[in-house]
Amino acid sequence: MDDPVLPDAEYDRLFRELQDLEQAHPELLTDDSPTQRIGGAPLDGFEAVTHAVPMLSLSNAFDDQELADFDRQVRERLECDDGAVTYVAEAKLDGLAVSLRYEKGVFVQGATRGDGTTGENVTANLRTIAAIPLRLRGSRSPDVLEVRGEVYMTHASFEQVNSRLEARGEKPFVNPRNAAAGGLRQLDPAKTAERGLTIAIYGTGEFQPGSSDAHMPSSQYDTLKWLADYGLPIAFDTTVRCVGLQACIDTYNTLAERRPSLGHDIDGIVYKVDDTRQQRELGSRSRAPRWAIARKFPAEEMVTTLLDIDFQVGRTGALTPVARLDPVFVGGVTVTNATLHNMDEIERKDIRVGDQVVVRRAGDVIPEVARVVPSTSANTSGRAEKPVLPSRCPVCGSPVVTPEGEVKARCTGGMSCAAQQRERIRHFAHRRAMDIEGLGDKVVEQLVEAGHVSSFADLFTLDVETLAALPRYAEKSARNLVAAIQASRSTTLARLLFALGIREIGESAGQSLANHFGSLDAVMSADRDALVAVEDIGPIAAQSVVDWFADANNRQLIEALLAAGVHFSEREIETLEPSLAGMTFVLTGTLADMTRDEAKEQLQKRGAKVTGSVSKKTSALIAGEAAGSKLTKAEALGIPVLDDDGLAALLDGTLDLAAPDSTK
Ligand code: IVH
Repeated sequence: MDDPVLPDAEYDRLFRELQDLEQAHPELLTDDSPTQRIGGAPLDGFEAVTHAVPMLSLSNAFDDQELADFDRQVRERLECDDGAVTYVAEAKLDGLAVSLRYEKGVFVQGATRGDGTTGENVTANLRTIAAIPLRLRGSRSPDVLEVRGEVYMTHASFEQVNSRLEARGEKPFVNPRNAAAGGLRQLDPAKTAERGLTIAIYGTGEFQPGSSDAHMPSSQYDTLKWLADYGLPIAFDTTVRCVGLQACIDTYNTLAERRPSLGHDIDGIVYKVDDTRQQRELGSRSRAPRWAIARKFPAEEMVTTLLDIDFQVGRTGALTPVARLDPVFVGGVTVTNATLHNMDEIERKDIRVGDQVVVRRAGDVIPEVARVVPSTSANTSGRAEKPVLPSRCPVCGSPVVTPEGEVKARCTGGMSCAAQQRERIRHFAHRRAMDIEGLGDKVVEQLVEAGHVSSFADLFTLDVETLAALPRYAEKSARNLVAAIQASRSTTLARLLFALGIREIGESAGQSLANHFGSLDAVMSADRDALVAVEDIGPIAAQSVVDWFADANNRQLIEALLAAGVHFSEREIETLEPSLAGMTFVLTGTLADMTRDEAKEQLQKRGAKVTGSVSKKTSALIAGEAAGSKLTKAEALGIPVLDDDGLAALLDGTLDLAAPDSTK
């Protein structure tokens, strides 16, 4: 019903376990075992369609070794042990397979894969998908051309569909694939049309040339080009011809890196022997062809047990519930902790200690508990009670409050709370803030615990003896740290404003304030109106600045910092011609001439904005060595890409990006 209880990866794991078990103990194999069923049975309400050419499934490879085994078997069967086989690597789109039948160039029937032999007639629904041509391009079309492809949903459409459902108070979909599958199996095609589905074609089924002179090309890659000539949508952007195993592995790595920025889900790569004669020679087993394999990416969702819920106290006192998990391999790493965001989320998802939960980690984002697996066993002892927000801070014991209109609960202990002290000091020392090298998390924790520091101003009073007396802390490290703390006193106003940890004032807001006011005194005495007038500072951030400096404790901190000798270099206050005003840049890779932070500072000083991700609004991407997915994305969007020399020219004003042909 397109509403699965388990993530695919967990299903696959259990399926494999069952297969292995049945192989080792054939006497345990029963007729109703899931291993005896190829796919989904047709849903009531749709006419059945028998596929003239069966729609097969694919075998999976979960690591490079399994892919190497596949390549070896292909070479052995083709008796080309020493030579390299040519494959086509295609993204394994995460949607659902359909077959489209064109008779004399006209789209006459579309069906789901079903169990591979019989699917559901979903022609009316498929007709609503704009990417499907209702008539093939060209004048003389084959009598019958059946093509196979994957119907899927982009992330953008998925978000739209889910917000619409949530606005109507309906249950959102757990992922784009289920939303796509559900969309295609609507009894009312108007409902399908609302889903914004799309399709990519990757193969063929029945083919009868009739009186046309059409004939099937002799390789997979040429077949894709041939299909594209008929006006069918092919995902060439994620299709690569690979000669030999190593090229296949390289393509896997490149695509894995591009995965988060593709705009739609892919769950692996399909490798297909390119030569169709070789494909015929290899043939098929019952479920899957011998000439193709799916190399799966690490699953982004896995199931594990929620062992406990702890509350972490952040820099501003916010309490974040954190899930302690039975370690689970997800998204390519072993995860033991995951965020539960806030109490509202826990309530909404009805998460309780002891539950089986789906843990999600996509790209580089923080792992989260996505949802609870509905209990399938008769659990007589029942579930644990609902978790409750502690009424007192787990670190300092101060009362916890949830301010009106906010979802996050906060510890009211302020600077008396050791967790807040620790987090504020860590933030203060951060590379992008005061940049105190050697002040790692561990030392901060020890210093706070021992009572040597309770605010970041106390850092400047530390001496070598105090540090060297810390457990497992060498005198040399102590000397280096004291030197680093002293050196950090010479900073920039923007860095200091960021380092103070004022709510809503991140790095770029700190920079805007520094650029606008030019001195700490001016920022401190600015009222709300003066602050709102600063670019990028909204009313909430403005109020937060006013409140921060109105607090007597904070003013004392500032005095202590200045007394300790914190000062701003002239360099920053000097204002440059805003030659890059209105432009937005993204930095990636390793630059040869300066660090990314330095490049950023230089660009910002000239009025440019520097952001973290490439979009249509990006003026140029500045790419150093080993640039990855951002470079690919910029190229795909046709955004100018500059190297070190280009950056230097941009900064000294000899390169004008607005001028025609300036990046050639
Ligand atoms: S080829 C005989 N190519 O993966 C070959 N399948 O696990 C059959 N899929 O049912 C499939 N992208 O839904 C092929 N580029 C691609 C694919 C692809 C996604 C899906 C398809 C298929 C499933 C098999």
